[in-house]
Amino acid sequence: MIRAATRAELRDAVGAARAAGHRIAFVPTMGALHEGHLSLIDRARDAAGFVVLSVFVNPLQFGPAEDFAAYPRDLETDAALAAARGANLLFAPDNGEIYPRGKPVVMIEAPGLDGKLCGAYRPGHFRGVLTVVAKLFHLVSPDLAVFGRKDLQQLVMIRQMARDLDFPIEILAAPIVREPDGLALSSRNLHLTPEQRTEAALLSESLRRAQAAFAGGETSSSALAVIVTATLALGAAIRPQYVEVVREHTLERVETAGPGDVIAIAAYVGRTRLIDNHTLE
Ligand code: PAJ
Repeated sequence: MIRAATRAELRDAVGAARAAGHRIAFVPTMGALHEGHLSLIDRARDAAGFVVLSVFVNPLQFGPAEDFAAYPRDLETDAALAAARGANLLFAPDNGEIYPRGKPVVMIEAPGLDGKLCGAYRPGHFRGVLTVVAKLFHLVSPDLAVFGRKDLQQLVMIRQMARDLDFPIEILAAPIVREPDGLALSSRNLHLTPEQRTEAALLSESLRRAQAAFAGGETSSSALAVIVTATLALGAAIRPQYVEVVREHTLERVETAGPGDVIAIAAYVGRTRLIDNHTLE
């Protein structure tokens, strides 16, 4: 696996892969790699001959009260995991490489999408995500990029950005990777106490129950949300932030749910904020 820390090193390595006739796939991450991230490398390898993985903890997408300083960083472990999984190039720039002139003056906003779901509770977060992803897209210039459905709003917004701003990049979505008890893998799961970790499985359990009700004919979004909320209430440490049934491409709430609509939830488990979602089928 090639390692690049600068734009010039990245450009040279991607240029050489292109000259060798490879399609380039890109997997952006903030590191602390787990099986969820690694599954994106698998998806990328299926679709292209050369896989670029980036590790960059993007300060622009953290709110003032969020965990930027405490975000886990272990580049050597990440490099070993990425190499073992078959990534061809690891791009791990420092802050100055991505933001050489400090905070950008021009940033990407998505009015209409960035106030929805998590965006309502994390002002500025998606502006930071879209801005860094646009910059990384320019620097890497891949043919395709892979994002996880775990962060559904992010996936939807990046797809929309690629369309609206004419990025010639195909956006692929990868399914949510879960623990055996259903908890979606996240670096934030490490902050849970053993009791909270047990209760955290109620997030995915609540979505399973809503799916079962939907499969049994329940299409009222508010009834589905009640099932989710009642299940989350079984956890003493769980405080839901939102439970919504939305149309995937617009993130607009729906009153009557249909196949392809998404139930999205965010909840604090103790002091750790977790998200999960399920596409109704
Ligand atoms: P990060 O949280 O590191 O996630 C990187 C990618 O891994 C995202 O596409 C995310 O959806 C995916 N992912 C995380 N957990 C997953 C799981 N359990 N199953 C499937 N995919 C999972 O998302 C970001 O970083 C940043 O916002 C980034 C896009 C890199 C921009 O800074």
